[in-house]
Amino acid sequence: MYSIKNISYEYLSQNNNRYSLVEKLAKLHYENLPKSKYTMIGIDAVKTLYLSLLTSKKINLFIAKKDNSEIIGFIISSQSKLSIAGLIFKNLFRNKYIKLKFLLQLIYFKNIKNIIIEIFNPSKDFLFEKNIKYSQILSLIVNKPEQGKGIAKRLIKLLFSISKSNECKKIISITTSYQKNAIFFYESIEEFKLVKKFKIGSNSFKLVYEANVL
Ligand SMILES: CC(C)(COP(=O)(O)OP(=O)(O)OC[C@H]1O[C@@H](n2cnc3c(N)ncnc32)[C@H](O)[C@@H]1OP(=O)(O)O)[C@@H](O)C(=O)NCCC(=O)NCCS
Repeated sequence: MYSIKNISYEYLSQNNNRYSLVEKLAKLHYENLPKSKYTMIGIDAVKTLYLSLLTSKKINLFIAKKDNSEIIGFIISSQSKLSIAGLIFKNLFRNKYIKLKFLLQLIYFKNIKNIIIEIFNPSKDFLFEKNIKYSQILSLIVNKPEQGKGIAKRLIKLLFSISKSNECKKIISITTSYQKNAIFFYESIEEFKLVKKFKIGSNSFKLVYEANVL
């Protein structure tokens, strides 16, 4: 852990109790993505997805804390080439926290895959080169009042250093043309380059950014 002023940054590996952060991180995500991303999705759907994601052994979590208590930003990354939908589904049935209530919720949400697409920007297999180990950014959120203070930049720095120690060669992140701040952000980080751009609507795009881990 290292600190600047009253903000500290931490890497929470699989061994930490990430289950306790489900509510908080889901809320941060829900409140900080452009509302145009959501059609009929409520906070409960986001919490359900975060429950499966945060208890997955395959993800890494990086958090920024204010005054050593309040979480104000985070990155969820994965070293698996599975897309976020794959990770969420894979963890559903072997998860000790998943209860009948949770499964019923899923049935209630019905089109869970479309909800995942609405909330996250899932990757596709063909984006990954074979024989290269990747760190995939699944979620990057900084709470609105704290944006523009360099918090995401520090979280990314921590992601680079953990990716390096895990022998990942590339970091990949997918965003959309709706997420203007994310585009400004990735364009501002020297290591990230726009490598692919897909049309997803008449005037909207999915953007794939990649960085080499040196
Ligand atoms: C994208 C996001 C994580 C950036 O977090 P942040 O902590 O505000 O970013 P930083 O303060 O570290 O910004 C680093 C650099 O990015 C650029 N940048 C970030 N936001 C910007 C904005 N709104 N306008 C212009 N440049 C911006 C700047 O160059 C900045 O460096 P500078 O302040 O030295 O000029 C944040 O805006 C966010 O949570 N957005 C909503 C969720 C989202 O879209 N996440 C991405 C999912 S792919």
